[in-house]
Amino acid sequence: MALEDCEPLSRFGDFPLADRLAKIDREHAMLLSMQDMLLTALNQHFRRKTVAKMLHILKLYTKFHFELEESTMVLCDYDRLGEHRCEHHAFWTDLTALLTKFDGGGDVYDDVRKLFVRLAHHHIRNSDEAFIQFARSVH
Ligand SMILES: [Fe+2]
Ligand SMILES: [Fe+2]
Repeated sequence: MALEDCEPLSRFGDFPLADRLAKIDREHAMLLSMQDMLLTALNQHFRRKTVAKMLHILKLYTKFHFELEESTMVLCDYDRLGEHRCEHHAFWTDLTALLTKFDGGGDVYDDVRKLFVRLAHHHIRNSDEAFIQFARSVH
């Protein structure tokens, strides 16, 4: 078989775009579940060690989620990647500040609620959805 007979390699590699977008959707649902669990844990005064673990898992999950989204945007040549990254960065900064406050003994219930209102009601619904629509329309 000649080289020119081979299928060109997808730039999405072994992880096709449709799978990436489906994973992004699933991760959004997981992030919102994590918010519910965290608010319940804080409201019901779970041990601080338990809440600290939940917050650190959330931070790690958020990091992987942002990396998946941004790498998918790069692969799609998304023209609004820069502004999207800024929103991720702002969320990350606030999440890090929240963790520092919690680790210092502070009450972060309202911070968690506000952070997720912004994530759920602004970022996921508007910015992430705009990207998903873009990716589905051009690829
Ligand atoms: Fe997202
Ligand atoms: Fe995003």
